[in-house]
Amino acid sequence: MRAEGEKIQRLSIMRNVQIQLASRPLGEPVVDNFKTIELEVPDLQEGQVLVRHHYLSLDPYMRGRMNEGRSYAQPQPLNEVMIGGTVGVVEASRHPRYQVGDRVVGMGGWQLYSIVDGEGHALHKVDDSVIPLSAYLGPVGMPGVTAWVGLNEIIAPREAETVVVSAASGAVGSVVGQLAKARGCRVVGIAGGPDKCDYVTRTLGFDACIDHKIHGDLKSMSTALKAACPGGIDGYFENVGGTILDAVMLRMNAFGRIAVCGMIAGYNGEPLPMAHPSLILVSRLKVQGFIVSEHMHLWSSALKELGAMVATGRLKYRESISQGLASAPEAFLGLLKGKNFGKQLVKLT
Ligand SMILES: NC(=O)c1ccc[n+]([C@@H]2O[C@H](COP(=O)([O-])OP(=O)(O)OC[C@H]3O[C@@H](n4cnc5c(N)ncnc54)[C@H](OP(=O)(O)O)[C@@H]3O)[C@@H](O)[C@H]2O)c1
Repeated sequence: MRAEGEKIQRLSIMRNVQIQLASRPLGEPVVDNFKTIELEVPDLQEGQVLVRHHYLSLDPYMRGRMNEGRSYAQPQPLNEVMIGGTVGVVEASRHPRYQVGDRVVGMGGWQLYSIVDGEGHALHKVDDSVIPLSAYLGPVGMPGVTAWVGLNEIIAPREAETVVVSAASGAVGSVVGQLAKARGCRVVGIAGGPDKCDYVTRTLGFDACIDHKIHGDLKSMSTALKAACPGGIDGYFENVGGTILDAVMLRMNAFGRIAVCGMIAGYNGEPLPMAHPSLILVSRLKVQGFIVSEHMHLWSSALKELGAMVATGRLKYRESISQGLASAPEAFLGLLKGKNFGKQLVKLT
């Protein structure tokens, strides 16, 4: 009898699975930089909330966190759960603000469950009756707000100006271009491969898209940009760096604005020298880097506009969804090589 009772009790213990950073990559990361741990979900303390994650967001910034060195954020500690945005459902709550069944966005990390202090601002309730839950990690989440902030605050495009965006089919780039179109701009994307370029023009409605796999060198990319941007470039939303930035700078109009959002081409430590920095002076360019988490005062305005656009179908988006937590490392490595087509997510339920 006692043995049976113990068995029943053990079966009722909830198991969590999490992926931790096991070692720091030298150059390109590999799956062995990660390890999988299984552990018990502890009992909830007063004020805590248990969240079952439905989707994990994979984002390029995670590559930077895997490094030891100084950056704008603390490195990801070794042997701890990998940082990451999540959406999920409250499974149990000992905080009056959260009820079982609430949909919540948070930074739950690469794991099936997280326990969160309900008192702070770590969780945000969301409504998935009109906007799908996963979109809160994409166009109506951090990537969407990133697009909104860089475009509106740094590029600040005027009607009929030309805006170029790299990684144009991705989570951030796709939103940048559609917002710029909604503001009356000519919008040109840069993306890798014919399928992504077709999607950028036909589905997202950009005026043109340049395939960087065809136009891989400076001369070819610069020529393609000249053809796609007959009036020059007024605003550039930079996601990639390297040759693409050099080529865009050659075509920037006087007093152009460059929002430096990311330089993914250099995230594995590749040097990204700038070919013609003197153009910043000659063309009187504004070149400004930004980190979306340092613009918290703009999030609610951005999310209001983005949410309305997604809910009414005016903002289109696409997702690459890998299945199961175990697929996260491979999917993340793929994201750094352009294998994703749209917002990269991991489905956990
Ligand atoms: N500053 C901030 O606060 C902030 C916040 C969020 C994101 N970001 C940055 O925004 C950029 C886009 O992020 P995202 O989440 O929207 O990712 P994403 O565009 O959905 O995916 C990354 C894309 O980058 C392109 N890429 C990858 N490696 C490349 C390489 N070596 N050369 C050229 N292109 C490469 C690929 O697109 P193609 O196949 O089209 O080349 C890939 O699909 C990243 O640089 C990220 O770090 C910055």
